[in-house]
Amino acid sequence: MNIVKAPNAGALAQLAADFFQAFIQAENNPLLTLPTGLTPLPLYRELRTRCEAGYQGLGRFTYLALDEYQGLPPSDNRRFARWLKQEILDPLGVPTQNRIIFKSDAADPEAEIKRFTEYYTGKAPIDLAVLGLGLNGHVGFNEPGSAFDSTTRLVDLTPETQETNATYWGYRQRTPTKAYTLGLSELRQAKNTMVLISGKEKSGILRRVLDGPVSEDVPATYLHDIDNVTIFAEAEALS
Ligand code: GLP
Repeated sequence: MNIVKAPNAGALAQLAADFFQAFIQAENNPLLTLPTGLTPLPLYRELRTRCEAGYQGLGRFTYLALDEYQGLPPSDNRRFARWLKQEILDPLGVPTQNRIIFKSDAADPEAEIKRFTEYYTGKAPIDLAVLGLGLNGHVGFNEPGSAFDSTTRLVDLTPETQETNATYWGYRQRTPTKAYTLGLSELRQAKNTMVLISGKEKSGILRRVLDGPVSEDVPATYLHDIDNVTIFAEAEALS
């Protein structure tokens, strides 16, 4: 694992944007996952700024949804597809046909997983998995205890994850209890992985990820077993 340490969140965004930009420019329409959450927002802002400043081609990729709440209608602003559409996909000009997303309100979740998986399989593997890290060590919505060979599925969110996610919407708004997520199997097959971590509150879980042991109790420890992993960490998350 390659660790890039940044003095603050702004520097982290710059370094991560440099990596992202170089990757997109070197590849031909790569397949990417992108995380929601608060951590990647400075990166997305930096990419938007570079786009506005005239950098060409930052949106030349295919977006593969990492995760999505289940059961929300298209108009619901909690949908991760909507979040990423506003933050990065529309501003960078990612073509609509290059966005592979979950239908949150699909009537038959099993059929939706089958549809998504078949679509993904035709494009696999992921060229660059851009990820965040949950306070409990989750990646996407692969909560502690997720099997390293798990595939795309519907999961129950832990109470802890529901609580941290509620901060995105305000505590009065109900956080969904179920979500679709890519599995650790699909993420393990990614050719390249970049993980964004900021904030002092992540220092404990980051230490567990870096020091091991590799265990399904801390899903992100799968990163030890794959190649081409770069962790972009803010200094206070590494302390
Ligand atoms: C969320 C998302 C993850 C995200 C993580 C960290 O629940 N499902 O994809 O990376 O938790 O979020 P944050 O950056 O807000 O700490």
